Amino acid sequence: MKSVRGTAAKARAKTGATRTKAARTKATRTKKSSAKQTVLPARNVYPRLLARPPATPSDLFSRWFREAQGSEISDANAMTLATVEANGTIAARIVLLKDAQDDLYTFYTNSRSRKGRALAHEPRAALLFHWKSLRRQVRLEGKVRAVSAATADAYFATRPRGAQIGAWASQQSRGQANGRRGLEQRTTAIEKRFAGKPVPRPPYWSGYGLHATRIEFWNEGQFRLHERVEYRKVSGVWRWRRLDP
Ligand SMILES: Cc1cc2nc3c(=O)[nH]c(=O)nc-3n(C[C@H](O)[C@H](O)[C@H](O)COP(=O)(O)O)c2cc1C
Repeated sequence: MKSVRGTAAKARAKTGATRTKAARTKATRTKKSSAKQTVLPARNVYPRLLARPPATPSDLFSRWFREAQGSEISDANAMTLATVEANGTIAARIVLLKDAQDDLYTFYTNSRSRKGRALAHEPRAALLFHWKSLRRQVRLEGKVRAVSAATADAYFATRPRGAQIGAWASQQSRGQANGRRGLEQRTTAIEKRFAGKPVPRPPYWSGYGLHATRIEFWNEGQFRLHERVEYRKVSGVWRWRRLDP
């Protein structure tokens, strides 16, 4: 009796095909099962990026942030902001980090937006960076407070005029009763109102600073044996420890 293998090999020779589907599947399976059998290398062969964490997390954050700015394709300062609402709902969205000084991480937004209302009710939040190009994550948690009017004014003044007009025109997070046209009409009206004059900061647009009391750095490792270093501020002093991945 001719073997199936022999027949298949002849057929492949005729058609010029290299491998049958069954053979490819078998090869994949073999690969998978040999991966399963991989023995972990001996200890200490993993490059440990966080071998000696600095005493304060802001130093490490600055370093990683600089590296992310050099390697991310866009918006290395984009971070997820998670807030809690009055009814207990948790909501998350992206905002841009505009300032990081010591343990204060600042973003700007409309205070009447969904996040603004959530923060007025529960002034605590979490921030999250995922820098894919570096395979790193940073998680920050803490209380949030609006920055001073002077700080918000100074930052608003640096924004492009179009963005300043937009901050007045957009009733962020409200339903568009008149569709996109309503927003465009408001934008035109605001442009006329401030024509030839500097655009002041809207009273409902400000910066929020998250005073971090927990920051965790995550660096991808082989075989899911990632590095995690958690900093917690206790009685004004940062302490760090390693966490299992
Ligand atoms: C890359 C990126 C950056 C953003 N930056 C900001 C920002 O700095 N401030 C802001 O209010 N919204 C920003 N947004 C829009 C928010 O994600 C969100 O849509 C908006 O603030 C409304 O959120 P809310 O309804 O939860 O308040 C950004 C979105 C993206 C995708």
